[in-house]
Amino acid sequence: MLHKNLGINEKGHLTIGNADVVSLAEKYGTPLMILDDGRIRRNIRLYKKAVEENFGKGSLPLFASKALCFKGIYRLAKEEGIGMDAVSVGELFTAEQAGFDLSLAYFHGNNKTDEDIAFAVSHGVGTFVVDNEDELRALNEYLEKVGKKQKILLRITPGIDPHTHKAIVTGSVDSKFGSAIETGQAEEITRLALSLKNVELQGFHCHIGSQIFEIEPFAEAASVMLSFIAYIKTQTGFEAKILNLGGGLGVKYVEGQEELDYAAVIGEMAKAIKLRAAEIGVSLPLILLEPGRSLVADAGLTVYTVGSVKTIKGYKSYVSVDGGMPDNPRFALYEAPYTLLLANKAGEKGDFFCSVVGRCCESGDILQENVCLPSPRRGDYLAVLCTGAYNYSMASNYNRIPRPAIVWVKDGADSIAVRRETNEDMIRLEV
Ligand code: LLP
Repeated sequence: MLHKNLGINEKGHLTIGNADVVSLAEKYGTPLMILDDGRIRRNIRLYKKAVEENFGKGSLPLFASKALCFKGIYRLAKEEGIGMDAVSVGELFTAEQAGFDLSLAYFHGNNKTDEDIAFAVSHGVGTFVVDNEDELRALNEYLEKVGKKQKILLRITPGIDPHTHKAIVTGSVDSKFGSAIETGQAEEITRLALSLKNVELQGFHCHIGSQIFEIEPFAEAASVMLSFIAYIKTQTGFEAKILNLGGGLGVKYVEGQEELDYAAVIGEMAKAIKLRAAEIGVSLPLILLEPGRSLVADAGLTVYTVGSVKTIKGYKSYVSVDGGMPDNPRFALYEAPYTLLLANKAGEKGDFFCSVVGRCCESGDILQENVCLPSPRRGDYLAVLCTGAYNYSMASNYNRIPRPAIVWVKDGADSIAVRRETNEDMIRLEV
């Protein structure tokens, strides 16, 4: 099986966190997202231990909640004692409603509106990750008006190519995010931040991209950032206390892809970072990481019901399911690879090559191509593995298809985390 939390039981059914996927599909209906509580906790603990061991106490993983956002995930993050990265007021609000302490939140975004700034400051967000000069001035003005101070990091683009899909590269010089070191703008915004009296500059942030398997781009980014920290110190006397290196570690979606050992990767990164810091003579700032995908992806799967199986003679076969791009747009957007199997025939060998497609009125509504399934039939349950990240959070109501429910499995028991959207839910804003 793709990950250790998956299995096949005596009925030949797929299991996740020891729960029978077929039984859950029958109980809750499809499409259904199933989340393995134990797997998320395992991933968080692994990260937490690794960052603490390698970077010392105070170093913390911050869950990048764009990967998966609903109240339950913040309750879990709170129980596990990690921080969070938010990119909108919507995420901050959801976290707050779940009882998450926003002083542990890092507020991102390349276009925070005046309303966003006011919300975040008044709700006690711990740290702003300021993207650009306009935002910095607007934040400072607002703080002046309300008589408050705010901790900030500055988002810097180190100019690193992380070798991943172009849509999820974020740290190159030509980017909508942050200020580039290469152009001198990173220094300019640092000087500006140091001159403004209502913001308290803590340090810097960078994020080079997502679904990255190599360590070198991270080590390189860290090295560039440390050199920048050293340079800024010589130029201004300011010594960064925090260096947030973003998220981005890759996840195994299909056989043949690597399964990263996150503890080992963090260990390697730490070695490179410490070496570089010693080389250039800067004291090591507090290191923060912002994993999203690698905390939740492998804890989730989506189960659908097969509706039709169609073979176009001389061409190919299509298996249609009762969800698709509205609940998982990642193939349509990035041609993202996934592992698909029939949950009710999990132990059977595939013999039928097909494209698995959704129910939208659009040819691009594909979940995966070149899939091999064991004699798929209407009524079979089809599972897409490793959908915990960037599926529910990117879901839409395209074609007025309601979003799936999310069910937790924990210690063999199941419970609803997010109820299935209804037709009434979809028209609730309409006058
Ligand atoms: N920090 C920042 C500032 C980010 O922009 C991101 C992701 C992360 C952390 C978390 O990265 P992760 O550990 O999840 O790789 N929708 C795309 C992924 C976009 C990622 C955007 N930023 C996808 O479905 O692949």
